[in-house]
Amino acid sequence: MLTKEQLIKKLELEKHPEGGFFKETYRSKISISGSSLPLEFDSDRNVSTCIYFMLASDEFSAFHKVNQDEAWHFYLGDSILLHMISPEGEYSQVSIGNDFGQNETPQFVVPAQHWFAAEIKTEDSFALVGCTVAPGFDFDDFELAEPKELQQIFPQHKEIIQRLTR
Ligand code: GUN
Repeated sequence: MLTKEQLIKKLELEKHPEGGFFKETYRSKISISGSSLPLEFDSDRNVSTCIYFMLASDEFSAFHKVNQDEAWHFYLGDSILLHMISPEGEYSQVSIGNDFGQNETPQFVVPAQHWFAAEIKTEDSFALVGCTVAPGFDFDDFELAEPKELQQIFPQHKEIIQRLTR
């Protein structure tokens, strides 16, 4: 298997504001007008987009949320532990990977508007996944958590928010 550095180069990955590295691999040429979308989408969007996303064990993907459901697909490496907080404040976690015996799942959809963060629990390792959204990704639909604000909304999840925000 390639090293993390080799993969970053081969797939032309760039740093993501949430942490980790990504590269957009698909953006549909079809677009949908803002007026046909729910109110949280303020303008037209491509109908779908895909990215490669790589996360290593020496960093984390900080709590953020998007307006779309986001489908994660596991490709290679060690499993990713995904932490989620629903708009109602319910915490859940899922392990994205391909070791079925360890209750990992290779495919998982994070529901729209859920705050989520991710990390790799195995030392000195990384994971490569794909993330697909429809309508297509736009940074206007993306919000990175402010630690203090999110802790005020969900005081019951103070510790995990503290640990997985910047
Ligand atoms: N494109 C740029 N950033 C992202 C992201 O966080 N998720 C998805 N699905 N696409 C992106």
